[in-house]
Amino acid sequence: MSKIIIDGNHELSGEIKISGAKNSAVALIPAAILSENKSVIYNVPEIRDIDYLIKIMELLNCKVEHKNDALYIDSSKIENKPIPEELSVQMRASYYFMGVLLAKFGKVEISFPGGCNIGARPIDIHIKAFEELGAKVEIVKNRYTITAEKLIGKKIYFDFPSVGATINVMLAAIGAEGTTIIENAAMEPEIVNVASLLINMGAKIHGAGTKTIEIEGNKKLDNGVVEVFPDRIESGTYIIIGALLGNNLKIKGIIKEHIEALLMKIKEIGINYSIDNDTLTISKCNDIKSTYIKTLVFPGFPTDLQQPITTLLTQAKGKSIIEETLYENRFKNTYDLNRMGAITNILSLNKLEIIGPRKLKGTNVIATDLRGGASLLIAGLIAEGTTTIDNSEYILRGYGDVVNKLKNVGANIEITEE
Ligand code: EPU
Repeated sequence: MSKIIIDGNHELSGEIKISGAKNSAVALIPAAILSENKSVIYNVPEIRDIDYLIKIMELLNCKVEHKNDALYIDSSKIENKPIPEELSVQMRASYYFMGVLLAKFGKVEISFPGGCNIGARPIDIHIKAFEELGAKVEIVKNRYTITAEKLIGKKIYFDFPSVGATINVMLAAIGAEGTTIIENAAMEPEIVNVASLLINMGAKIHGAGTKTIEIEGNKKLDNGVVEVFPDRIESGTYIIIGALLGNNLKIKGIIKEHIEALLMKIKEIGINYSIDNDTLTISKCNDIKSTYIKTLVFPGFPTDLQQPITTLLTQAKGKSIIEETLYENRFKNTYDLNRMGAITNILSLNKLEIIGPRKLKGTNVIATDLRGGASLLIAGLIAEGTTTIDNSEYILRGYGDVVNKLKNVGANIEITEE
């Protein structure tokens, strides 16, 4: 159990460097299995999910070497084995072993994935697509056995542009005969990042990052190299922190096109910033306006920044409304925000009202999920007095080295392990 302790209300200046994207890295590591030889993944973030993925890779007899921020993976001696529940429930991304092992061996045995408790999060779109490619899926309790004598590429239409399903089907389609076309695919940058590794290994993939992706199957893939994109959600979180406490705070490693929805929104509510190459500079805004935000799939406003921006809106003048369209249980952070002095009301399952501006006061709070934890971290940074965040391992799942990054720019923040 770790606790983050913050003495709030300190101005932040200097530079924060953004790490590699969690949601890209957790897909790129399993994707490396599709290489007949070696892969190198640069800019891997220091987060817990990576350690569990490496454990699964090693269980499958892949050699993984971690040097600085690079992973060197040798998958030439891979063996197919059932993935035990105690590993697969540690994170959502374990579902990517379905796609890669199906492509490589035509068989996978794995339990339902874990991940933050922010809604039901079914994987029916993944399963339906595997079946359409010719796989048989048996589910006993939470255990999935997926087999295919051979996978045959075809056109698949997604009912919803799921990030996980898009990547998983792209991975499985590498092992299919012929061409697979995904219609209504997700367009998030993570998909482009994974496709770029597969293409580097020799795959033929067109359209990653658009609604239609075409994958030519039955390809033997060879050595691959890729760099993980900077994390757009980590970038967004530090931008929000800069708008509340920055004094020319610099955030380095920005890809503007990945965070356009956030940048437009903060501009609309009166927050100024400047961008020079990959560095964004931002200072505290004393006159934040209220707004309406609806979370959407990329390029819309990302659900993963919904909880962090809720804390920002507690400082905006007037009534803001947030509509969360992706998850049905992603307002749990508001309980503790209100205990710190915010006024937020859950109007319905997916609608939140925030009334500001409110002075927040430090107290003991509990992180219930990754981005909810980030929302409380931001609240602690702007509050008067001391905030103690229990269960802060949730925050560490998505924000590598967060305590040092904030300390280095002037925050009074510590972490303790119990
Ligand atoms: N959905 C289904 N059936 C499916 C798949 C998804 O109904 O088979 C629904 C989900 O229940 C959810 C919506 O579709 O309501 C979006 O799910 P999606 O599959 O796009 O998300 P995911 O792959 O489970 C990834 C990220 C999430 C991020 C979402 C949306 C990873 C490991 N996780 O999840 O990240 O919120 O995409 O961008 O890549 C986070 O980082 O905090 C996080 C939760």
